Amino acid sequence: MIKQAIIPLAGLGTRLLPLTSVFAKELLPINGKPGIEFILDECIESGIKEVIFIISKKKEMIKNYFNNDLFYKKIIKEKKDQRIVNEYKKILKYKKMIKFVYQNKPLGTGDAVLKTKKFIKDKYFLMLLPDDLIIKKNCSISMIKVHKKYKSSVMASMNVKKSSVSRWGIYKLNKRLDKNNSLIDDVIEKPTIKEAPSNKAVIGRYILPKTIFKKLLNQKPGKGGEIHITDAIQSLIKENEKFIAHNFSGKYLDCGTMKGYIKSSLEISKI
Ligand code: UTP
Repeated sequence: MIKQAIIPLAGLGTRLLPLTSVFAKELLPINGKPGIEFILDECIESGIKEVIFIISKKKEMIKNYFNNDLFYKKIIKEKKDQRIVNEYKKILKYKKMIKFVYQNKPLGTGDAVLKTKKFIKDKYFLMLLPDDLIIKKNCSISMIKVHKKYKSSVMASMNVKKSSVSRWGIYKLNKRLDKNNSLIDDVIEKPTIKEAPSNKAVIGRYILPKTIFKKLLNQKPGKGGEIHITDAIQSLIKENEKFIAHNFSGKYLDCGTMKGYIKSSLEISKI
């Protein structure tokens, strides 16, 4: 069973500047609901019991959003408004399952993951990147099913335009296991069109083994000087750890850029 999920939130969000100079992008409303709540709902529906948020001092706004009890208690007493009571109950439900850890220097996703080392209990855990919303079908549920069937690590995969491969982590695939699942041979961070072994890109949902922490402890910075989680995954694959690329069937929305964020609201308002 996968019971714990981690969510890295300590990045700088430079693609959404100037907004992110003062605001946490994960709290921006998408069709009226903060983006991070869509991610939390995906976790709850897939049976996750504990979610670890990796934040930084600059992102404490996120912690405050879930820890504002005094404010709610006071306002509920004064206003006696059922809508506010319901909103507070929802926040409390999320709060109960969230733990916060800090990454104060954004050294990369791999370094962010390493901050959760001492809290991960089971052999495998889920990681969700909050910029990547997947709607219409719960991707985490599908991936947990694949993990149970093949007893291995799983990563979400989506076909992208060949001309855009340099924006993504790109898979080199091995044997196809079934219609939507293939073994991964290699993951290459942001390759050139020439270097790219496929047009299948890594999307922000991962079921990772606890053994990844050992790799991350000795991980050197990679492309762009950052410690990438994909480099640690690559080292594990080389040591014969089984990783599966899962071609998910939900709709992917990129909330990490202004254009994508605006589109996300429009798409979600249609369902
Ligand atoms: P990205 O590098 O794609 O996004 O990180 P970013 O840093 O948030 O924003 P840009 O690229 O500057 O616009 C992917 C995820 O990993 C987290 C980010 O918060 C994001 O959710 N992250 C990234 C960390 O938690 N720590 C890091 O050091 C880097």
